Amino acid sequence: SSYKNILIESNGKVGLITLNRPKALNALSSELFHEINDALEKYQNDPEIGAIVITGSDRAFAAGADIKEMQDKTFAEVYKSNFLGHWGKINEIRKPIIAAVNGFALGGGCELAMSCDIVYAGVKATFGQPEIKLGVIPGAGGTQRLTRAIGKSKAMEIVLSGRNFTAEEAERWGIVSKVLPVDKVLEEAINLAQQIASLSQPVVQAGKESVNNGTSFELSLKEGCHFERRLFQGTFALRDQKEGMKAFIEKREPKWTNE
Ligand code: HXC
Repeated sequence: SSYKNILIESNGKVGLITLNRPKALNALSSELFHEINDALEKYQNDPEIGAIVITGSDRAFAAGADIKEMQDKTFAEVYKSNFLGHWGKINEIRKPIIAAVNGFALGGGCELAMSCDIVYAGVKATFGQPEIKLGVIPGAGGTQRLTRAIGKSKAMEIVLSGRNFTAEEAERWGIVSKVLPVDKVLEEAINLAQQIASLSQPVVQAGKESVNNGTSFELSLKEGCHFERRLFQGTFALRDQKEGMKAFIEKREPKWTNE
């Protein structure tokens, strides 16, 4: 295929997408995410495919949006280009998507996993929304999906402290449906995808659509995500966003100025 950052392979009725940017721990650059969207669209339009699996490597599912790409962006740029707006595409895919997560699923990586319909995780998987430590907030549904999944107090703890959480916690909280040995995660995810893909596609899609209608509280998920993205973009107006990302890249502690 013509992709530079992902591998695609279909196995019977299951379409597999493997994030493959190992040097950056599968950091989700715009280019990488456009490739995910393109592959999702192809699987969506392929009548042979009944379910999709997204995975990474043993070390990282994805360590977040690409900090090096974001660092120097201004508020005007991110707002005018609706930066990362294309991340919403996955939510329009009607076929079921299973995430097979090993290693780091941080920031946008955690949000990508939570955007999937079912998450299987390896015992050593590490989840988290560390954006706060970079001087930004989650921007791809993290504050919304986490709160709906695990409730306000836990979501606040995770989002405001930026602390990571384990696969075992994620399972207890309902974000992950099964914790498996590292070398079984992908295999079991593909098995599940094959089972689902063997069922009626429109009925499976209706099931998915209906479950999704049950996940919103005061704001619809779309409204919530829209509002969240605007706030995420707004953090690019802060000096602390520049400092947080710069410090990460320079491998030092950030010096916050609260402006
Ligand atoms: C760009 C990244 C990256 C990222 C890792 N790398 N994460 N590059 N964006 N998100 C790069 C590192 O810079 C490094 O490149 C290489 O990958 C290996 O990473 P190390 O840090 O050396 O590995 P390690 O010490 O094992 O630490 C792993 C880690 C750490 C704990 C996962 O990399 C980390 O904290 N990453 C950032 C996690 C994060 O904050 N994610 C949220 C991003 S913001 P070099 O060139 O040095 O070899 C976000 C906003 C979402 O996601 C908004 C969505 C709309």
